[in-house]
Amino acid sequence: MTLSLFILLFFYIFRATSSDPYKMVVVSGKPQNSPLFQPMKFNFSTCVDYCLTKDNCMAVYSENMAVENCQVYYNVQLDSIVEMDKSAGVKTAFKTGGQGFDTYKVVLANGVWNFTEWPKCAGDFKMFIRPKGKWCIRVGLIDKNINITSAKLTCEGFYRGKLSGLENEDEFNYVRERVSFYVGYNQQRFSQYAAVGFWVNGFRKSTCQETTYSKNNCNGTNEFDFDDPTLSENPTGYKWGIGQPSGKLAIGSDCIQYRFNMSTNVPDLDDWKCGLPVSDGGSNAFVGYVCGRFPE
Ligand SMILES: *[C@@H]1O[C@H](CO)[C@@H](O)[C@H](O)[C@H]1NC(C)=O
Ligand SMILES: *[C@@H]1O[C@H](CO)[C@@H](O)[C@H](O)[C@H]1NC(C)=O
Ligand SMILES: *[C@@H]1O[C@H](CO)[C@@H](O)[C@H](O)[C@H]1NC(C)=O
Ligand SMILES: *[C@@H]1O[C@H](CO)[C@@H](O)[C@H](O)[C@H]1NC(C)=O
Ligand SMILES: *[C@@H]1O[C@H](CO)[C@@H](O)[C@H](O)[C@H]1NC(C)=O
Repeated sequence: MTLSLFILLFFYIFRATSSDPYKMVVVSGKPQNSPLFQPMKFNFSTCVDYCLTKDNCMAVYSENMAVENCQVYYNVQLDSIVEMDKSAGVKTAFKTGGQGFDTYKVVLANGVWNFTEWPKCAGDFKMFIRPKGKWCIRVGLIDKNINITSAKLTCEGFYRGKLSGLENEDEFNYVRERVSFYVGYNQQRFSQYAAVGFWVNGFRKSTCQETTYSKNNCNGTNEFDFDDPTLSENPTGYKWGIGQPSGKLAIGSDCIQYRFNMSTNVPDLDDWKCGLPVSDGGSNAFVGYVCGRFPE
C-alpha cells in the first residue's frame, strides 16, 4: 500500500462564513512551477500581513526568516508547494477563507500541495466577481436577426445559462469590447443599420408599463425585474441612452437591448419590444445576446 495522504480542502465552503477575515496557512516548504511573483523587501511575518491586506494576494514565500526578502504570488500564480524539513527554514504561507477568496482548491499528496484554479468559467465565458458571487459572461452573436425569445433559447439551451444582467461598469465595458470585436468583423452585414442590439436580462414590471408608469416609482433600471440570479438589487451596469428607458411612451417596450451605435461606436442601454428581430423602421437589428452562467 502506498503511503499517500489526500486532503481536499474546498475553500468554497468559506463563503458561508464570509464575514471572517482571511487566514494564512503556513507550510515548511517552497514553491515549484511558479515563475510569476513579485519580490518584496519584507521579512516573512510582514509579508504575511501584507498578503492579508491585498484582496488578490494568494501566497508568500521566504527562504530565510531573518532577511527582508519575500516573494508574493497573486491570484492563482502559485502552482504547488514542495514540503521540506523544518530545519531548512523555508516557509510558504497561502491564503484561505474570506469573502471572495474562493479562487482555488488545494490537494496535498506525497508532500506536494497542489493548487488548481477553481471554480472556473466554461469555454470562452469570462468571470466577474459580484457581491452575490462569481458569474460567467459570454457575449454571443447570431448569424441572423433574433427576438429575445430566440436569444433566451440559445443561452439556456446551448449554454445552460440565463440572459445576463449588467452588474457594473466593468461588465458594461466587457460587453462593449466583445460587441466592438463582432462589429469589426461584420461591417458588411451591419452597415445597413443605425444600431445593432444584444439582448440582456430585464423585463418591464407590470407596475411600470405604459398605463401605470407615471403613477409608480418607475425611474430607470428600477422599471425592470431581473432573474439573473447573482445580479444585485440595484445594478449600476445599465448605462441608459439619453432619454432611455422610454417605455412609458412606447407600448410593449418591455425588454432591454445593449445597443451599439454604428455611426459613433458608442454603446448604451435601451428598452425595446421583446418580439422583434429588427425594429419596426428597420434601423435597429437585434443580432445577439449576453449570456450568463455560474462557474463550475
Ligand atoms: C519584521 O519586520 C517588521 C517591520 O520591519 C519588524 O517590526 C519585525 O520585528 C520583523 N520581524 C522579524 C521576525 O524579524
Ligand atoms: C496538480 O494538479 C493538476 C490538476 O489537478 C495535475 O495536472 C498536476 O499534475 C498536479 N501537479 C502535481 C505536482 O501534483
Ligand atoms: C447614434 O449617435 C448619433 C450621435 O449621437 C445620434 O444622432 C443617433 O441618433 C444615434 N443612433 C441611434 C440608433 O441611437
Ligand atoms: C430619477 O432618477 C434620476 C437619476 O437617478 C433623478 O435625478 C431623478 O430625480 C429621479 N426622478 C424621479 C421622479 O424620481
Ligand atoms: C421570436 O422568433 C421566433 C423565431 O423566429 C418565433 O418563432 C417567435 O414567434 C418569435 N416570438 C415572438 C414573441 O414574436
